[in-house]
Amino acid sequence: MKLGVESHDLARTSVDLLALPLFSQKAGARLPARLAAIDRALGGQIEAVVRSGDFRGRTSDSHLLYARGKTGPRRVLLLGLGDEAKVDAEALRLVAGRALSAASARGARQVAITVATSRRMPVEPAARALAEGAVLASYRADGRRAPKEDAKPPVAKTLLLVERAADVSGARKTAETGRVVAECQNVARQLSNEPPNLLPPDALARAARRVATEVGLACRVMDVAELRRRKMGALLGVGQGSAHPPRLFVLEHKPKRRTRLPTVCIVGKGITFDSGGISIKPASGMHEMKHDMSGAATVVGLLRAVALLDLPLHVIGVVAAAENLPSGKAYRPGDILTSMSGQTIEIQNTDAEGRLVLCDALHYARTAFEPAAMIDLATLTGACVVALGNWTCGLFGNHDGLVDGVRRAGDAAGERAWPMPLADEHREQMKSAIADLKNVSGTRDAGASTAAAFLSKFVGDVPWVHLDIAGTAYTGKTGPCQPVGATGFGVRLLVQLLQDWPRLGIGARTKA
Ligand code: BES
Ligand code: MN
Ligand code: ZN
Repeated sequence: MKLGVESHDLARTSVDLLALPLFSQKAGARLPARLAAIDRALGGQIEAVVRSGDFRGRTSDSHLLYARGKTGPRRVLLLGLGDEAKVDAEALRLVAGRALSAASARGARQVAITVATSRRMPVEPAARALAEGAVLASYRADGRRAPKEDAKPPVAKTLLLVERAADVSGARKTAETGRVVAECQNVARQLSNEPPNLLPPDALARAARRVATEVGLACRVMDVAELRRRKMGALLGVGQGSAHPPRLFVLEHKPKRRTRLPTVCIVGKGITFDSGGISIKPASGMHEMKHDMSGAATVVGLLRAVALLDLPLHVIGVVAAAENLPSGKAYRPGDILTSMSGQTIEIQNTDAEGRLVLCDALHYARTAFEPAAMIDLATLTGACVVALGNWTCGLFGNHDGLVDGVRRAGDAAGERAWPMPLADEHREQMKSAIADLKNVSGTRDAGASTAAAFLSKFVGDVPWVHLDIAGTAYTGKTGPCQPVGATGFGVRLLVQLLQDWPRLGIGARTKA
C-alpha cells in the first residue's frame, strides 16, 4: 500500500473514500469550520447527521455518507475518535485501521484520512500514528488461502491530509517513519505466522538473510559445526531431537553517518516449533507453538526498521533458532548440558527450552560484541501469561534506568511492558544439587521470575532487559489493526527505545 501526505481542499479530494475522524461533541455543538466546505459539497449531510445526535464522535460511532458531485470524494466516512483530551497514538492507529477496513470492505482503492490533531497529539506524532495504523491494518495473514470469488481488492493508496500546508513536510517525515515501523512489524508478524513445516531453523535464518540483503544489514549464520566449535551446548542440546538442526544467526546494523556509537544487542528466542520435547505438551493448542519464534521474528523486523531508518546506533540482532521435538536423539530430563559460558545445567524438564537456547545466545552476544546493553525477547513462560494476560508483556532486568526506559518506550509505542520482580531468591531456586544450574525451579511459583533469574546468570554485569512476550506475541482477538495470529509485538516498542537511546545515557561515550 502506498502512503502519501498532502494538504488538501477536502471537497476536491478525488478518492473512493474520505475518512473524517472527529472528537466527541456535546449535543447541539457546531461543526468545526474546516468541515464547512465538504459539508456544503455533501448538501449539508454532515451537519444533519451530527445535529441529529446519531453521530456523537464516540469511538463506537461511525457514519457513511455518499457524495453526488462529479469531483471530490465518492464516500465520506465519519469516525468517532472519543474525548479530545484523552486521544493518544493508539486511538489514532485504531481510527486509521477502521478507515481502511471500511474502505476495503467496499472495494475502495484510494483512501484519504484527515490528520486529527489535539493538544496531546500535534500533527507530527498524529501523522506517524495514522500511518502505522493504516499499514498495520493492511496486513493479511491468509496468503495461502485460495482467493474468494467476490474478494475485493485491497486499498492501493492512503493519503493523509493535513490542514495547514506548512505542516506537510514535517508530517511526511513522521508518516514515513510510521510506515517503515509498521511494515517491519508486519514482516515480524508474517515470520511468526509461517507454519513450522515451512520455517524450520535454517529457513528462518535464510529469511533473515533475505531481509538483510534487502536493506543492507550484515548477516552471519552459524551451522551445527560452528555451534559445536563455539561450545554452545545448551542450544545444541535443545535442537538435537529434530531432523532440522539448530542455527544461530547475527544481523548487524552499522550506521552510515557516525562512528563510536554504543552497541546494543537484541536477542531473540527462535524455537520454530515447541512440542515440549520428551516432556511433551498436551495436544490442545499445541499448534500455537509455531509462534515460539516470535522473539526471533521481532528481532528480524526490528533490525529491518533500524537499517531503513538508519538509526545512529550500532545495533546487533542475535537469534538462537531450534526445533524442540521428542525423538530417539532428543535431549532428556536428567541430562546435564554444558553451556557456552561453561556453566553446567541439569535438565529437569525439556519444555523449559527457551532459557537454554537464550543462555548461549546471551553469552555469545556479551562476549563477542561487548555491548553497552542487551535486550532479549522470548515467548518464555505460561506463568507470564497467567500474571499479565494478553495486553502487557513481562519486563525484567538488572538496570533500573534501562528497565524504566523500556517501560516508557512501551507506553509511548502502545506496546506495554510491566516491571516484574527478579531477585536473589529466584536465582536461589535455580541451583542444582549436581550441576551449576537446573533448568526449572521445580515449583510453578513465580515461574516468569525464575525463568528470568536463570537468564540473569548469563549476562554478567551488562545492563540487560528481558521481555517475556508469551502473552502478547499472538492473539485470537482481532481488532482494526490486528488479524488473528501473530502481533509483531516489540518492534514498535524497541524502535521507540532506540530512538530515545541518547536520553537514557547508557553507553554514551564521555569526552576524555
Ligand atoms: N514456549 C513456552 C512458553 C509459552 C507458553 C509461550 C504459552 C506461549 C504461550 C515455553 O517453552 C514453555 O514451555 N515454558 C514452560 C516452562 C515450564 C516447563 C517451567 C511453561 O511455561 O509451562
Ligand atoms: Mn517449552
Ligand atoms: Zn518454548
